Amino acid sequence: MWTGILENDNFWSVFNYKKWIRPMPRILIVDDEPTILNLLNKILIGQGYDATPASNGEKALQLLQTEKFDLMISDINMTPINGMELLRKAAVSWPDMGVIMLTAYGTVATAVEAMKEGAFDYITKPFKLDELVLTVQRALEYHHAITENKDLKARLEHKEQLGGIVAESPGMRKVCEMIERVAPTSTTVLIYGESGTGKELVARALHHYSPRKDATFMAVNCAALPAALMESEMFGHVKGSFTGANATKTGLFEAAHGGTLFLDEISSMPLEIQSKLLRVLQDKKIRKVGGSDHTEVDVRIIAASNEKLETLIEQGKFREDLYYRLSVISIDIPPLRNRPEDILPLVNHIMSRELGPDADLPLIDHETQSILDNYNWPGNVRELENTIQHALTFAQQGVITKDTLPAKIVNTVEEGLRSGIITSRHEQFKGKSLKTFLHDKEKEFLQRTIESVNGDKEKAANELGISLATLYRKLPSDLKK
Ligand SMILES: Nc1ncnc2c1ncn2[C@@H]1O[C@H](COP(=O)(O)OP(=O)(O)OP(=O)(O)O)[C@@H](O)[C@H]1O
Ligand SMILES: [Mg+2]
Repeated sequence: MWTGILENDNFWSVFNYKKWIRPMPRILIVDDEPTILNLLNKILIGQGYDATPASNGEKALQLLQTEKFDLMISDINMTPINGMELLRKAAVSWPDMGVIMLTAYGTVATAVEAMKEGAFDYITKPFKLDELVLTVQRALEYHHAITENKDLKARLEHKEQLGGIVAESPGMRKVCEMIERVAPTSTTVLIYGESGTGKELVARALHHYSPRKDATFMAVNCAALPAALMESEMFGHVKGSFTGANATKTGLFEAAHGGTLFLDEISSMPLEIQSKLLRVLQDKKIRKVGGSDHTEVDVRIIAASNEKLETLIEQGKFREDLYYRLSVISIDIPPLRNRPEDILPLVNHIMSRELGPDADLPLIDHETQSILDNYNWPGNVRELENTIQHALTFAQQGVITKDTLPAKIVNTVEEGLRSGIITSRHEQFKGKSLKTFLHDKEKEFLQRTIESVNGDKEKAANELGISLATLYRKLPSDLKK
């Protein structure tokens, strides 16, 4: 079942890896023989696991319902719920938990049956200590790998799902969570963000993940439409209603019926149109310019702005009542300079969009990465897109170097670094050997662990999975006292 990399048993005994890399695994032990239950409990706690004993299947089920375990070790022969039933229930309800079965000598056939039902392995009673410890380690390792894989897949699918929105930074992840939560509703959404941060992308994702996705998404830029035309564009007009109205025209609201209307740069909407929009939002009906009939419309409104509407309200340029209608939910997209984690993933995303999904992406040399990382991107993702397009045009032999970037960007960053306005994000790693870096990290980790147990070195050593003597050896003198 598990082959290959675990051949060398010594590896596991000399390197108590499990406490270093993740929280203490939780193990549920189920056996109706008290001696075995206690023995297992003692051994596993001694090995540094967080073990919980259950003296029968019912108790185990109760515990499983309220707590999370990484592994269950269960006897097969128990009453009234036997180990096989417990295993079947676990496989359905807690598929991420590993299961090891305990079986008496001579009932190996049942144990094999158990493996077919999803148990990781079985141990025959009486068992050898080494055998138990190793099987437990393998089961935990195996299930950890599976869960990690699932998480990764879920994360990838999640990214796919949200219509190509790169979101590595906590700020953008929050935006994506909001999209997921709000998209299925018909609530009006107000999106804030500087120019080029992805407001339209977010609006489209809201539409795409809504039940309206098969109907139209209409976008209108309120700043680009002349005020005189805006009313007729939005609500339509009837033939002859004004000079030049040679035919009856359907407005955007009607065209977007059943779908979504994206009102970009809503701050530029004239006050007169704002009042009409407010009326439509309240009545869900429109009236064409020059017409007298009302037509019902079912349109979800998403508005976007790069300036705070509150300021415009104070200046009398925006209706407060409309603001409240529009901002039922508001999504703030952070500027790119406040989410540096997104820069390089965006660069890769842009390059594969430009070059096609199967193309080998060019490499970006270290110096160029550092410039992209340290520039403050006033034009946000759109400016980054233009920069990468520029770089791809000038890149040679599959490498993006500093001289492929627009000179303005390189100069701004280099001058900033020279004058000390910008402190390089790589400064903290610069000039350090790997050994020094690891040493510093180890010191920081030891210090934090000691602090977390209020300075109790014995407890800290226990948590860290090392002896007290080793802890003292590793501690710098200022932390030894
Ligand atoms: N997180 C992101 N992931 C992937 N692409 C992004 C992301 N954010 C923005 N973009 C891309 O950047 C470009 C600009 O985005 P968009 O047009 O949505 O921004 P905007 O805020 O509406 O800009 P403006 O204020 O100029 O209208 C688009 O090509 C968009 O696909
Ligand atoms: Mg836009």
